[in-house]
This record gives sequence, structure tokens and C-alpha cells, in this order.
Amino acid sequence: MQEKINVAIDGPAGAGKSTVARELASRLGYVYIDTGAMYRALTWKALESGAGCEDEASLADILQEMELELRNNNGTPEIIVDGRNVTDEIRLPEVTNNVSYTARHPHIRKYMVHKQQELAARGGTVMDGRDIGTAVLPEAEMKFFLNATVEERAARRHEEQLGKGMDSDLELLKSEISRRDMLDSERETAPLRKADDAEEVDTTRMSIKEVVDYLYTRIQRKLAAYE
Ligand code: CDP
Ligand code: CDP
Repeated sequence: MQEKINVAIDGPAGAGKSTVARELASRLGYVYIDTGAMYRALTWKALESGAGCEDEASLADILQEMELELRNNNGTPEIIVDGRNVTDEIRLPEVTNNVSYTARHPHIRKYMVHKQQELAARGGTVMDGRDIGTAVLPEAEMKFFLNATVEERAARRHEEQLGKGMDSDLELLKSEISRRDMLDSERETAPLRKADDAEEVDTTRMSIKEVVDYLYTRIQRKLAAYE
């Protein structure tokens, strides 16, 4: 029987990680785990409760009490917090603009990393985030670091928001993405960084299908080596 491996996908905002990871997981028959959604869920709850995202002790209390469920609804990932479906709410700009503050705290990260490792313990996952190849799954059999220019990443988010009928300002998106890249790359604990053994893929001029096909081929080659 073919072995089930773990696939780690990291990279900055808008590089295509979640879209590609979801599609890849479905092709492989693996489970997709969106670690960004876990930090977003905590941020959403911290904002809702009025505690904010700066104080680590308050965040830790919220995390202790919070019931977080990552559900798969016919291929669509859903995020449930304390029984409420917050899949759309955790993508709102207020959450997006605060999540990197939540994600800076070392104890919060430790807790999240532990949960993520449990989810991947039996293999067969495609996990995306910022520190998957470096901290969460350093032993992952396949590691990719997706990248694209900030102009391209902002343009993708712009299209995505217009497509949802939302207001969108391309220049504002560009500066928000750059600020988040900086916060994620410069934090002390598990910053956004390509693992030494990850393959970097510049997706700037690639379609989603091209990226998925490329990663899929690389993974199939790896799996064939186990047979
Ligand atoms: O989809 P997008 O790239 O906008 O963000 P995301 O993957 O949902 O992650 C949101 C934020 O959570 C990131 O900007 C990071 O601050 C944080 N994050 C992290 O620190 N570590 C991870 N493994 C995943 C996300
Ligand atoms: O998860 P991450 O923030 O890295 O990016 P994403 O949410 O998967 O992708 C951001 C947007 O770019 C989505 O609307 C994707 O459909 C789009 N995209 C694209 O146009 N071309 C790619 N090669 C990858 C993603």
C-alpha cells in the first residue's frame, strides 16, 4: 500500500497556498489543514470579546475556553468556534489586519503548533501556513514555499474581493499585505521563512491549475520512490 505523507506549504499572503493546498489535498485524497484559520479564529474571538490581540495572557484564556473545530463540508473547509460557523467572518478585514499580532505570541504559537502536529500525526495531510516546514512539521516529506510578487498577490486579493461584491482598493491591499509580510517575517518566534529543504515556487505567472499540477507531479514522484 502506498504510504501517506505530509505536505507542508508555506509562503506569504496571497501566494495561493490555501487554494492550491485544498485542491492538492482533494486530488491526493488527503486532509487539508488551514493553520491560518486557527490564528484567525482566535483573533476573531479576541476581537468579539473586546480583549484585543496584544495581551498574551488574555489570548491564552480565550484559547483555553474556545472550542475550535475544523470541519470539511463536502470539500469546503469550515471553521466552527463554540458551535458557531465563522468561516466567512474570520476573513473580514478587521480580523485580517489583526491576526499577525495574535500570531506573534510565543505561548499561543506553542499551543497551535501542538494542535497542528496532532492533526498531522498519522500523515496524509496537506497543511498550509507560515511555519509548517520550519516548526510544525520539520519532518514533512514534501515542503513547498509558494511565492509571488506583492503586486500580483494584491491583484489576486483585489479580484477575489470584487468577485464577492465587496469594495476593494488595490493600493490599500498592497500596503496591508506588505505590512503583514513584514510582521510575519520579523517576529521572533517561528517567523515566515523558507525551510532549507523546501522547494520555492514562484507562482507570479502561473495559474492555479499549473501550480497544483506541478506540486502534484513532484509529490507523485516522491511517492513512487516508496514503492
Ligand atoms: O490567507 P492569508 O495568507 O491571508 O492568511 P492566513 O494563511 O489565513 O494567515 C493569517 C495570518 O496568521 C498570517 O498573516 C500569520 O500572521 C498567521 N499565521 C501564522 O503565524 N502561522 C501560520 N502557520 C499560519 C498563519
Ligand atoms: O492562501 P494564500 O493567502 O496564500 O492565497 P489564496 O487565498 O489561496 O489565493 C489568493 C487568491 O489568488 C485567490 O483568489 C486565488 O484564486 C488566486 N490565485 C491565483 O489567481 N493564481 C494562483 N496561481 C493562485 C491563487
